[in-house]
Amino acid sequence: MFYVTTPIYYVNDEPHIGHAYTTLIADALARWHRLAGEDTLFLTGTDEHGLKVQRAAEKNGITPQEQADRFAVRFVEAWRSLGISNDDFIRTTEPRHHRAVQKLLQACYERGDIELGHYEGLYSVADEAYVTAEEVPELERQGRPVIRMEEENYFFKLSRYEQALLDWYEDHPGFVTPDIRRNEALGFIRQGLKDFSISRTSIDWGIPLPWDPRHVTYVWFDALTNYLTAAGYGTEDPAFPARWAGARHLIGKDILRFHCVYWPAMLLSAGLEPPRAVHVHGYLLVGGEKMSKTRLNQIAPASLVEVVGVDGFRYHFLADQRFGPDGEFSFEGMVARYNADLANNFGNLAARVAAVVASKCGGVGPAPSADSPLAEAAGRAFEETASAWERVAPSEALEAPWRLIREANAYLEANEPWKMEPGPAVEAVLGDALEVLRLVALLASPAVPGACGDLWQRIGLPGSPEDARLPDAAVWGGYPGGLPVRKGPPLFPRITV
Ligand code: MSP
Repeated sequence: MFYVTTPIYYVNDEPHIGHAYTTLIADALARWHRLAGEDTLFLTGTDEHGLKVQRAAEKNGITPQEQADRFAVRFVEAWRSLGISNDDFIRTTEPRHHRAVQKLLQACYERGDIELGHYEGLYSVADEAYVTAEEVPELERQGRPVIRMEEENYFFKLSRYEQALLDWYEDHPGFVTPDIRRNEALGFIRQGLKDFSISRTSIDWGIPLPWDPRHVTYVWFDALTNYLTAAGYGTEDPAFPARWAGARHLIGKDILRFHCVYWPAMLLSAGLEPPRAVHVHGYLLVGGEKMSKTRLNQIAPASLVEVVGVDGFRYHFLADQRFGPDGEFSFEGMVARYNADLANNFGNLAARVAAVVASKCGGVGPAPSADSPLAEAAGRAFEETASAWERVAPSEALEAPWRLIREANAYLEANEPWKMEPGPAVEAVLGDALEVLRLVALLASPAVPGACGDLWQRIGLPGSPEDARLPDAAVWGGYPGGLPVRKGPPLFPRITV
């Protein structure tokens, strides 16, 4: 079972391209694994409890539930407009999630890993949040008073899990990728772990603790559990163990500690295995900074889709940034890459082939030759694409089919079928080029499903690339020939700004 998740997004904010970035990678990954015929579950959703949401609701003059309802829809709609193929959308205010959180809490409590204690710390009243001593001077300068606050909280005994976590990392070298993030998590564990607070009595927008309903679950115990809820934890669903065993979380590096340290410890405490892997990516920066509500540098996906279309948007964020390090978003870079990779390379190949099939073959696509000089490059493209998705390296997964596109364009330029007389020689060249188009449509379909589906039909194939199954469909020679080939408008019209 391939079970891939995104973080669940807070409903105090509009979806922006940072959220879209993680969601798109998860989507392309899920699409790739479906192509490979794997049983796939792709989950995304919204994080709806806690102070942030409560405060956003107050500001908007509505209840937290209304706030959640209003913003959850924004995420659902944003993902629909980007062609996100999630199988489930979880909202933490759903009853199924309440049940799962309470079950997990109860299990940790019975294990003796949750204890009542006092939380004491510096608290910013204006921010309604605990702050560190280092933050105090700046807050005071801004006229935001800091007090010492003490409240009764339940704590999760994270300190007991240091060795168990180190052992888990040791036994599961692929648990956190890439390595730089694995080392960061290990460094954090080795520094020594402190118990963390899991409940609040000062707010009521949350899930009550089953044994002490004066307290509501605070943020992470609630949020992280969504991954279990959607897999069927807390129900009789017999599919739960298989789903959970295949769980992979995609996250940004901002929430590494929670996913790579707290979460596996919570699961071990409850007698469950940690997820199979956590894949951690860097930030998408705008003007050198992480997008945030306060910096007002957030970009809405729709504003870019307007320029480059859904496929152009998807391609850009999957291809432009390596998975792991931070990367800078640039509008000019996006348009330049769109024109180079999509309009020129990919779009041109498709347009050229269709035009010559029309003029030299009466619009009927010939079959490829078994011993085509492109066959080897095509085989390599498939191997490289598969291996890149296996490593969760989307930009590399796209480099492979684009290398094949360039080879096919070079092959056409070397043979110049547009100058040849109709007959077997021109048919051989075009059959090979059509086969490359079929393969590229297949391999690139997880990233640019719209254009690939369109191309699939233009070269006369029935259905869409999603109906094909790897690895068989990637074997050279799958294009049957004898199919009507249609040119149609440019797959990716050039953009001038
Ligand atoms: N609700 C928590 C997550 C709980 S998961 C059990 C949360 N939500 S969030 O709305 O703030 O979203 C955080 C996630 O959004 C990041 O981990 C990352 O996946 C994505 N991103 C938000 N801004 C981003 C960038 N600027 N760049 C890349 N990803 C970003 O934290």
